[in-house]
Amino acid sequence: MLRYVTTNPGKVREAERYLPDGSVERLDFDYTEIQADELGPIAARGAREAYRHADAPVLVDDAGLFVEGLDGFPGPYSSYVEETLGVERVHEIAAELDDRRAAFRCVLGYCDGDGFAASPDPVDRGDRDAAAAAGPDGDGEGGDPDESDPLPVKLFEGYVPGRIVAPRGDGGFGYDPIFEHDGETFAEMDTERKNAVSHRGRALEKFAEWYADR
Ligand code: IMP
Repeated sequence: MLRYVTTNPGKVREAERYLPDGSVERLDFDYTEIQADELGPIAARGAREAYRHADAPVLVDDAGLFVEGLDGFPGPYSSYVEETLGVERVHEIAAELDDRRAAFRCVLGYCDGDGFAASPDPVDRGDRDAAAAAGPDGDGEGGDPDESDPLPVKLFEGYVPGRIVAPRGDGGFGYDPIFEHDGETFAEMDTERKNAVSHRGRALEKFAEWYADR
């Protein structure tokens, strides 16, 4: 049984559409979200922590909204910005911009304690090679203990372009009401339609295809 690690049941509903019936269940585990400018290392670190907690195969999902006219902000800080400013304020800030283009990105990190055969999707090895090259004392600056973490994590990425608009629609969660793709906000789409175009749907599609042979 695969554990989809999230506090958000909406994400699991999206994932269930891609995986065989009864093959996935939600693991309500709040892993440590490290500060990083990219989603990959956050998902990888979370997947290692969740795997050690669950002692079973886990899939961690890290996503964010990247606004072009704000140089990608809030990006990896999307959660914090949603909790502090709120989605409507993000729309108000974006409404002042000439460039309101934005993208949702999602990175899925899979860990089951084993290694991975080569495939186009990247594997995060906690920068093991760099840690080894630096020698047993590392660079002498302490650094992140996770840098030498040997548990490999397979990463799957998805992306969807759109633009920031005034809130519309009652469905979805998070930034869905202010993210428009192809004339509709994500909050105006049903799950099936959102999956067909969303960052998470695209990442899940890649994952499901690979996982079928795992
Ligand atoms: P996390 O990856 O669950 O921590 O999500 C980061 C932030 O992006 C949170 O504020 C989520 O509400 C938001 N977010 C993630 N995925 C989506 C989505 O599919 N639609 C809308 N907001 C999302």
